[in-house]
Amino acid sequence: MKILVVGGGGREHALVWKIAQSPLVEKIYCAPGNPGIAALAENVPLAVDDIAGLCAFARDNAIDLTVVGPELPLTLGIADTFKQAGLAIFGPSKAAARIEGSKGFSKDLMRKYGIKTADYASFDQRDAAVAYIRAHGAPIVIKADGLAAGKGVILAQSEEEAIAAVDDILVNKKFGAAGSSLVIEEFLRGEEASFFAFTDGKNVLPLASSQDHKQIFDGDKGPNTGGMGAYSPAPVVNDALYQRIVAEVVQPTIDGMAAEGCPYCGILFVGLMIENDDFKVLEFNARFGDPEAQPLLMRMKSDVVPVLLDCARGELTTTALEWHDSAAVCVVLASAGYPGSYSKGDVINGIDAANAIDGVHVFHAGTAARDGAIVTAGGRVLGVTGIGADVAAAIETAYAGTRAISWPGMQLRSDIGRKALNREGK
Ligand code: AMP
Ligand code: GLY
Repeated sequence: MKILVVGGGGREHALVWKIAQSPLVEKIYCAPGNPGIAALAENVPLAVDDIAGLCAFARDNAIDLTVVGPELPLTLGIADTFKQAGLAIFGPSKAAARIEGSKGFSKDLMRKYGIKTADYASFDQRDAAVAYIRAHGAPIVIKADGLAAGKGVILAQSEEEAIAAVDDILVNKKFGAAGSSLVIEEFLRGEEASFFAFTDGKNVLPLASSQDHKQIFDGDKGPNTGGMGAYSPAPVVNDALYQRIVAEVVQPTIDGMAAEGCPYCGILFVGLMIENDDFKVLEFNARFGDPEAQPLLMRMKSDVVPVLLDCARGELTTTALEWHDSAAVCVVLASAGYPGSYSKGDVINGIDAANAIDGVHVFHAGTAARDGAIVTAGGRVLGVTGIGADVAAAIETAYAGTRAISWPGMQLRSDIGRKALNREGK
C-alpha cells in the first residue's frame, strides 16, 4: 500500500519511521518532509496547507491512505476535501477539528458534556472581558479563540497583564481573525500530562501515557515552546487516573462530538493538568503531539498502519495496543534564540554518531540539506530519542545521543524526564 504523510517535523519523521516498519506498506511519500524523512520516504515539495495540491497528488499517485500530522490542514478542511474525492485520510473533518481550532468551541463542549476543565467565560467585547478580570483577579489565563502558533495563551500574573492581553487580542488584533473572540479562564496549578487516543468516531483506543516539557528552560522556567522534550510512560498518570481519563474525558468527548453532528475520527490529544490525583482538561488538540509522538511511537509494538486505516474507514477493530516494556525519552535540540527569533543555516555535526549509539534514534524537525551537510532550518531542530529499561535508563541513552551532536548556539534542557524520577523517589 502507498501512504502519504502530511507535515515535515519531528512528529512526522517519527510517524514515517513507524509506518515504514509495517509489512503492509510498499511506499511512503511525505509532504513536505525533511532531510531525515528522506531516508525512509520520498519527499514531495507541497506545503501542508496546499490542500488542492495534496489532494491531486494523492489521486494521481493512487495513495491508499493519507496521514495528517499538523493541525493547520485539518482546520482548513483537508479531511473533507479528500473524502469528497473518495480518498482515505486519517484526521478529523473541519467541523471536528474545531476542538483545537476554537477554544470557545472546546470549552463549551466540555461544559455541555460534563468534562472537568478550568472555569471560564468567552468574550468578544473588551469591556465585558475587563469586568470579568476585575471580578476574578489574577493569576488568570487569557486565550485567543483560534490558532495562534502557540502564542495565543497568556498566563497573566496581574490584572494589568491580563487586560493588556485582552487589548492585544481584541483591540490591536495581534492574532488577526484568530483573536476575534477569546476565552478567560481560571489559572490551574499542578503537573501537566498529554493523553492520546485513536478513534473512529465511536470507539476509542488509548495510547500509553506521556509527558511534554513546555517551557524553554530547566525547572519549567521561561516562556512556553512547542515542547522541549517528552517521555513515556509518565508515572503522574497512574493506572487509576488512566482509566478515569478514558472514561471521564476521552469517551464522553467522542460521544459528545458525535451528538453535536461532527463525529471525531483520528487521534484525540488531551492536555491535562493533574494535581492531588485529580485532573482538569487544559485543552484538546486534533492531532498527535510533537515531541510526544517520538517516544510514544518508539515504544509502540503494534503495527500502527491497520489502526490508522481503521480510523480513516470509521471502523476501529483493534481493542488494545501493544507496547514495548521499555521507556522512551526524547530531548529536543533547538536553535539559539528559540522560542523567540532564532538563527538558521548552522551546520549540524554528529547526527550519524548519535544514531550509532544503541537505543538512540534522531528524528529531524527543523533541518535542511545544504551542500552535502545538514543545517538548522527551524526553532526545534532535532528530537534525540532514546529507549531504556526504565525512564532513568532512557534518559541516559537520550542524553548520550545529545552529547554526540553540536552546532553553534544549540540549546536543550538538561532535565527532561526528571519529574518521572522525582515521582519514583529516585
Ligand atoms: P493550551 O494551548 O490551552 O494548552 O495552553 C498552552 C499552555 O498554557 C498549557 O500547556 C499550559 O502550560 C498553559 N495553560 C493553559 N491553560 C492554563 C490554565 N488554565 N492554567 C494554567 N496554565 C495553563
Ligand atoms: N507538544 C505539545 C503539542 O504538540 O502541542
